[in-house]
Amino acid sequence: MNYPDYRPRRMRRTENFRRMIRETRLSPSDFVYPLFVVPGSGVAKPIPSMPGQFNYSIDKMVDAAAAAADVGIPAVILFGVPEKKDAVGSEAWKDNGIIQKAIRAVKKARPELVVMADACFCEYTDHGHCGILHDGELDNDASLENLARTVVSYAKAGVDVVAPSGMLDGFVTACRESLDEDGHDQVAIMAYSAKYASGYYGPFRDAVDSTPQEGDRRGHQMDPGNVAEALREVSLDVAEGADIIMVKPALAYLDVIRAVSDEVNMPIAAYNVSGEYAMIEAAAEKGWIDRERVVMETLLGIRRAGSDMIISYHAPYACKVLAKQRW
Ligand code: PBG
Ligand code: ZN
Repeated sequence: MNYPDYRPRRMRRTENFRRMIRETRLSPSDFVYPLFVVPGSGVAKPIPSMPGQFNYSIDKMVDAAAAAADVGIPAVILFGVPEKKDAVGSEAWKDNGIIQKAIRAVKKARPELVVMADACFCEYTDHGHCGILHDGELDNDASLENLARTVVSYAKAGVDVVAPSGMLDGFVTACRESLDEDGHDQVAIMAYSAKYASGYYGPFRDAVDSTPQEGDRRGHQMDPGNVAEALREVSLDVAEGADIIMVKPALAYLDVIRAVSDEVNMPIAAYNVSGEYAMIEAAAEKGWIDRERVVMETLLGIRRAGSDMIISYHAPYACKVLAKQRW
């Protein structure tokens, strides 16, 4: 097949030709929409570094979740900002904690919506680290015990999927065993398997006030230079019983998404994180890029890299675009 006999442009001449040979498409079914829940009622406080995203009280969060469901999004993932923080993050596993109440409220309003909830302690500890500290170091196994309590409390509130995000060793086993022992064998686990120590989480940490007071997360999140290690992390989580494998962030790690999707036969989620959202919004705001094209092209790229689902702050916007035009 050589020029001039083969001319690839023949198949690109019109939109209908292009539709026929398009290999990757976007649909509302691809998305999970993240929502931030804060105490109070009637609250919808804009997050300055994430224009268009809000810190919601439970009532307003339920409205936003319902609006997402109405544009065809199958799932939301909830993050909680508690009333008070302490050294161990004990608000995380309270039966009447902010996330537990939020889970009940969404399931009540929209039982069909898949409700996922992030399970970590950095939003709940006064020091901002992802678990219990001993002499300034994260105590992995002691933190796992609290994680186990936390996911069981989410399950009791009716969560569909727990999403442990602390990159603690053994976190999937800790979740699966505690869930099963408490009779929640139908609650799925989405493991933040390959989560990199990334500068792209900046806006998120502003939103939930979880920047570590001292130090950083390089001791448990992955080094940005590594991909073989990501595959090791993923195989551990698969062996431990994860139902969904996540790679995070997405854009600087498209090769990792590809490598994981070539290697494992599991549903793969990519987290299109806060800094990735903020960059597009900032450039679009300045008129330097075309928001619609860049958002859709970015999301398509994340799917093309091999992800099955995309956790994205752009999810509702993308669904509105998809309602008027195919991608
Ligand atoms: C930890 C958590 C983080 C994100 C999701 N879960 C932040 C971190 O590790 O500091 C980041 C999400 C984003 O940037 O959009 N609970
Ligand atoms: Zn954390």
